Amino acid sequence: MTKIRRVRKAVLPVAGLGTRFLPATKAVPKEMLTVVDKPVVQYVVEEAMAAGIEHFVFVTGRNKAVIEDHFDIQVELDDTLRERGKSAELKSLEDMLPKAGATSFTRQQAPLGLGHAVWCARDIIGDEPFALLLPDMVMRDQAGCLSGMVDLYNKVGGNIVAVAECDPAQAHKYGIVGKGEDLDGGFRITQMVEKPEPGTAPSNYYINGRYILQPEIFDILSKQERGAGNEIQVTDAMLKLADQQPFSAYQFGGETYDCGSKAGFILANVAFALDRDDIKSQVFEDLKNMIAKA
Ligand code: G1P
Repeated sequence: MTKIRRVRKAVLPVAGLGTRFLPATKAVPKEMLTVVDKPVVQYVVEEAMAAGIEHFVFVTGRNKAVIEDHFDIQVELDDTLRERGKSAELKSLEDMLPKAGATSFTRQQAPLGLGHAVWCARDIIGDEPFALLLPDMVMRDQAGCLSGMVDLYNKVGGNIVAVAECDPAQAHKYGIVGKGEDLDGGFRITQMVEKPEPGTAPSNYYINGRYILQPEIFDILSKQERGAGNEIQVTDAMLKLADQQPFSAYQFGGETYDCGSKAGFILANVAFALDRDDIKSQVFEDLKNMIAKA
């Protein structure tokens, strides 16, 4: 068996325009919208850190510079917090900071699809497996989705795609996989299709925005073939790579919030607020009353 190489780097595509959230996203990137008190993208970076990721590659675009600032040190702010004895706030900033030199930013330049965004990271990733995390999708789970994927990867190698079950009526919005032989915590993938026509999905297992991919995916993406929506799709490239390498699904047991949709974003705020000791009781009581009156 070939050696299973460690996953050290992660790609985060953050170039999207966020038109579904206008006017909020006119000057603020959608990845910087907050769930309780953290930007969406920070949840995803923290999930990656918990899984042992050491280097974060952001594929950005115009108007996204604030993401770069967010993952950098803010000397004046830190000094002020220190002077004022605000140690908890200071620690919260320190904990989320990637190490010096552990972030890279590259620009996608044209909105040609998720596959194209991933391909833009090829030189920074080089010849090693990497994680791909779509920042629209925020996971709520004790252990973290990517950590579970890394555990499965360390056992079976190859490529891993996280999946969750969706309402069949929603399958046309996602990448859908076909289910094969069971594995401990997942199954072998037999098929992958991006945004299947209604009624044609091979299962209800949708790709929920987390992947571990081998670098050979870049050779396939470099052909720049268009798929669903006339975009270069990562799902199509994975399907081609599956001719040469195994693909396994990690069945995510936690909750996935699609923060690229308004309802998903609101629900993420409610769910994470209910996880927080400082605001849980107030949010819970007020929500109960609100729902009773709705
Ligand atoms: C992308 C992927 C799709 C996946 C989805 C999860 O689609 O192409 O396979 O199911 O993310 O959010 P997009 O949301 O960019 O249309």
